[in-house]
Amino acid sequence: MKRLFALAICGCAVAEAAFGGNMNCGLWFDDKGHHINAHGGGILKDGDEWYWFGEHKIYGDFGNRAYVGVHCYSSKNLVDWTDCGIALSVTNEVGHDIESGCIIERPKVIHNAKTGKYVMYFHLELKGKGYKTARVGIAVADKVTGPYRFLKSLQPNGYESRDQTVFVDNDGAAYHFFSSNHNQTMRIIRLSDDYLLHTKTEAIMADGDKTEAPAICFKDGWYFLIGSGCTGWMSNPARSYRARSIMGPWERLENPCVRVNPANGLGPERTWGCQSTFILKVADDDYIAMFDMWCPKNAVDGRYAWVPVTFTKGGKIKVIWKDVVDPRAVGN
Ligand code: GAL
Repeated sequence: MKRLFALAICGCAVAEAAFGGNMNCGLWFDDKGHHINAHGGGILKDGDEWYWFGEHKIYGDFGNRAYVGVHCYSSKNLVDWTDCGIALSVTNEVGHDIESGCIIERPKVIHNAKTGKYVMYFHLELKGKGYKTARVGIAVADKVTGPYRFLKSLQPNGYESRDQTVFVDNDGAAYHFFSSNHNQTMRIIRLSDDYLLHTKTEAIMADGDKTEAPAICFKDGWYFLIGSGCTGWMSNPARSYRARSIMGPWERLENPCVRVNPANGLGPERTWGCQSTFILKVADDDYIAMFDMWCPKNAVDGRYAWVPVTFTKGGKIKVIWKDVVDPRAVGN
C-alpha cells in the first residue's frame, strides 16, 4: 500500500522494481520500511560502514524547505540501509541561521583525521529569503551519526555559495566547491587543516558555464567533476570536467551520460530526469555516480539513481545508465 500511495501522489512516478538490487528512480526502503529520505546527499565511509547523509524532505511542494534537518543512514553493503535518525536538526529558535523553514541542501560530511571530528558542509538559505542569501553552513560532531552541532554560516571569502560539495584530496587536504557569482562560476577554496575555515587559497573553474550540482572524484591522475546546468528542479544535460591539479586549470569535457532511462524515456539530454549529487568511490576501480530525481510537487517522494562510473583510456568519465544498481556488483 505504501508503495502504491507514494507512486500515486508523485508526478515523477516511474515503474516500481521487482526487487533484487535497488531500482534506479524507484522507492528505496530503509530497515523500517520507509522510503529513504536523504536527498542531495553524499556518503562517507567510516570503519566498515557507509554513512549516507542527505536532505530530509517532507510532503508537499513546500517540503523542500528544512523543517527537520539532515538525515543519516548506515549500511555495510550500500544496499540495505539502517535509519540512524537526524544527524543535524533545525531549531525553532526564531532568527537562528538554521531556523525551521530555512533551506538546507546538498549536505556532505568529511572526517578530519587530525582532530577526529566529523564536519558537515551544506548549502544554507536563511528562512524566508528564497535563494537570495547564498551561504554555506558548517556543523561538527564527535560521532559520525551526530548529533552535529551547528557552528556558523557564511559566504566563503565573501562569495555567494549555493550548490556545493566538499572533497578530501589524497593528501588529506579538503576543498570546498560551490556555485557562485549568481551560479555563473564554480569556486574552489582550500579548507584549513581542521576543515573548519576557508583559507585564502582559491580558484575558479567553469567560469560562465552556470554549473551546479558538483560531484567530484579522482582516478588515475585526473580529478573529475560532474555537474548540471542551472534549471532548478528541472533536469538538464550534465557536463563533466577534468584537471591534473585540484585547483585547475579545469578542462570542460562532454556530457558524461550514456543511454536512456526506459522508465521515463529520458537520456543524456535530461540526465535521465536526474541531477548529480556525489561520486562515491566504492573500491579502487569502482565508482558510483549518485543522482537525485527531484519531485518538487511532493518533495519527500524524490528518488535516487546510482549509476556506475567508467573511466576511458583517453582520460574521460562516462556514466552509463543501468536500471538496477547493486553496488556489490559494480565493476564485476
Ligand atoms: C537546483 C539545485 C538544487 C536546488 C534547486 C532549487 O538547481 O541543484 O539543489 O537548489 O535548484 O530550485
